[in-house]
Amino acid sequence: MPTSRSDSRGNPLVLPALEALAGPTLLVDVHQRVTAATPEAEDRLGPGAIVPGRPLAELLTLTEGPRALEALLSRGREVEATVRVGGKERTMRVRAVGLSQGNRRLGWAVLLGPEEGAREGAEEVFHGMWTRDAGMKRMFRIVEKVAHTESSVLVRGESGTGKELVANALHEISERRKGPFRAINCAALPPNLLESELFGHVRGAFTGAVRDSPGHFRLADGGTLFLDEVAELPLDLQAKLLRVLETRTIIPVGGRQPVPVNVRIVAATHRALRREVEAGRFRADLMYRLRVVPLFLPPLRERRGDILPLARRFLDELEQNGPRRVERFSPGARRLLESHSWAGNVRELRNVMEYAYVIGEGPVLQEADLPPEFSEPCAPPEAPLLATREEEEEAQEAAPAHDPATLRAALARAGGNRTQAAKLLGISRVTLWRRLRDTEAHQGT
Ligand SMILES: Nc1ncnc2c1ncn2[C@@H]1O[C@H](COP(=O)(O)OP(=O)(O)OP(=O)(O)O)[C@@H](O)[C@H]1O
Ligand SMILES: [Mg+2]
Repeated sequence: MPTSRSDSRGNPLVLPALEALAGPTLLVDVHQRVTAATPEAEDRLGPGAIVPGRPLAELLTLTEGPRALEALLSRGREVEATVRVGGKERTMRVRAVGLSQGNRRLGWAVLLGPEEGAREGAEEVFHGMWTRDAGMKRMFRIVEKVAHTESSVLVRGESGTGKELVANALHEISERRKGPFRAINCAALPPNLLESELFGHVRGAFTGAVRDSPGHFRLADGGTLFLDEVAELPLDLQAKLLRVLETRTIIPVGGRQPVPVNVRIVAATHRALRREVEAGRFRADLMYRLRVVPLFLPPLRERRGDILPLARRFLDELEQNGPRRVERFSPGARRLLESHSWAGNVRELRNVMEYAYVIGEGPVLQEADLPPEFSEPCAPPEAPLLATREEEEEAQEAAPAHDPATLRAALARAGGNRTQAAKLLGISRVTLWRRLRDTEAHQGT
């Protein structure tokens, strides 16, 4: 039986006082039935919605399904709820505070968070990509259509926006899904390695080529080849790639006979290829060949509505393997996350959540749990997102960085000879040794 209705109405100050302190709030008894609502909560839920005794689950539709009610009430987790008012859907985050007297649970105060923008649509998960953003969803629809064709697709987007996920989706939806999917990062390999990685080589083509090697094109035969950072391809290789696309044959390094290949190309870059063409760094004919269907992935800062829900999803994943349960973000943490520039996009967000999960304690993710860059007062609100090519080149000269795969590829190509491998990478033997040691140390942890 609803009991507290008369209590809260008995003193006309109780509900307005509650609202002044906690914002729009519903009072719910132990049977999970609504007994009273503050004036703003009544407004929010529409006329006639608050009938004392009405089950909370009937009043609020919890977006994450029926289990969310238990998460909200028993575990105190913040969840998302929608209500239909006058034919329109209103979405808000809600959380609950348990009300007890001694050991006796009396019920809960359910606090309604600010209403989320009506612009934000329903969520969608498309091949591992989560979003609510209309632009992203439009892109998914194009991916579905173009996947069934053989047209070349060029994916453009900043680092960490999901270019590889899109390439994967194209492969998985296409009729080539039974064939291989291979990815090669054109920026990660020095030009002399890249050619044989792409097209393979014949035995004896160069020192260390002790046996034939197929190369990515042949390894991707019957499937899809993802050419990541395609703008970094040197001009002579661009010419060779164009030839491959036009003749559908490759010539391995040191070989003479063209070998037929049946590969669909998906290319990606974080640069505007047109600008690269204007600057003479990229062949116009190759650009047209690659970008029959251009796809653009918007950066995270242009879909801010995705930030907090994505952050929540990453926390859910972390909670599967960790002891900490995060029920909500502190208002300060929310503000910082929502206003951050996210130059590393979704990948950066995932890493930040992992950091905060590990560093912080307790059910509230606080400002102080976020990595140091969030508390540096001088950090510009919109940090420079992409360095110019010249800046990047300078940085690379100062400290040429190679990922573990590159190091391994160079070593393999040098037949295990470290001096030779260091030469191929353009670094000293000592630097190579240090990098290998660091990679191994990393893998050991
Ligand atoms: N919409 C999304 N939903 C969920 N996770 C995402 C989404 N977009 C990206 N990610 C995550 O971010 C990571 C980076 O995505 P991906 O490797 O596809 O980015 P990228 O654009 O290829 O980045 P880079 O240019 O640095 O190679 C993925 O491993 C995935 O975990
Ligand atoms: Mg990538």
